[in-house]
Amino acid sequence: MIELQDIKKSFGEKRILNGLGLRVREGETYVILGPSGVGKSVTLKIIIGLLQADSGVVSIDGRRLSAAHDVMDNRPGEFGYLFQSGALINWLNVYDNLALPLRHARVAENEIARRVKEKLAMVELDGVEKMMPDELSGGMKKRVSLARTIVTEPRIVLYDEPTTGLDPIVSDKINRLIVSIQSRIRATSVVVTHDMHNAMTVADRIGLIDEGRIIAEGTPEEMMNSTDERIRGFIFATTLKATS
Ligand SMILES: Nc1ncnc2c1ncn2[C@@H]1O[C@H](COP(=O)(O)OP(=O)(O)OP(=O)(O)O)[C@@H](O)[C@H]1O
Ligand SMILES: [Mg+2]
Repeated sequence: MIELQDIKKSFGEKRILNGLGLRVREGETYVILGPSGVGKSVTLKIIIGLLQADSGVVSIDGRRLSAAHDVMDNRPGEFGYLFQSGALINWLNVYDNLALPLRHARVAENEIARRVKEKLAMVELDGVEKMMPDELSGGMKKRVSLARTIVTEPRIVLYDEPTTGLDPIVSDKINRLIVSIQSRIRATSVVVTHDMHNAMTVADRIGLIDEGRIIAEGTPEEMMNSTDERIRGFIFATTLKATS
C-alpha cells in the first residue's frame, strides 16, 4: 500500500534520512518509533509530498509517485494527515474547521453537516460545533484535529505525534480513538511517536528509526521480546523515563 525505498534526505549539510525503507500493508497501523529529531515528521511529509526526498522511491498502491507530487491537492479526501501541531484554523469555529476539507472536495452542505456531527461523535465531542479553537483545551483540540483528519473518510491516515503534550489519561483516550477509528473506517495508517507505550497500544507493527533508517521492525510483542541491543536500549530508556 505505502512503500518507501532507499529514501535519502538532507537539509544543507545535514543528512536526516539515509536509506530509509519501509512497507505498510493495506489496513494495518504501522508505527514509526524513535527519539526526537531523527526525521519522523520528515518521513511522513515525504509520504504525503509536503517534502521531496533527494533520492529513493515513494509508492502508493504500487504506483510510484512523481518527484513533484502533491497528494493533498491531487487526491482530496484520500489522505488524512494529523499534524504534530494540530493545525486548526484559529479564526474558524469547529464546524468550519471540519467542513474545510469536505468543501475542498465539493461535498454538498447537508452531507457536510451530517459528517461533521458523526465525526465529532466519534471523538466524543458532541455539540462543540460553534466553539472557536481558542476556547478548547489541548486535549479537545487534539480530538477536533483528529475528527478533521478523518472527516473525509480517507483510505490512508498519517498521524504525527497524536498524543504529545497530553496527560496520560487523555493520551490513552486518543490511542483508543485511533484504534476504534481504524476498525471503523478501515484505513491504512502510519503513526509517528517517540513514546513506546503509545506505539504498543496502537501498532500492528512498529519500525524503529535511528540514524536515518528503519533499524528494526516487528509486532509490539516481537519488539518487547527482542534481544536486539538497539531495541532493548530504546525500550529501556523509555521505561526508565516513564518510571522516574
Ligand atoms: N524544512 C526543514 N528545513 C530544515 N531542516 C529541517 C526541516 N524539517 C526538518 N528539519 C530538520 O530535520 C531533522 C528531523 O526533523 P523531524 O521534524 O523529522 O524530527 P522528528 O523525528 O519528527 O522529531 P520530534 O520527535 O521532535 O518531532 C531536525 O534536525 C530538523 O531540524
Ligand atoms: Mg516530529
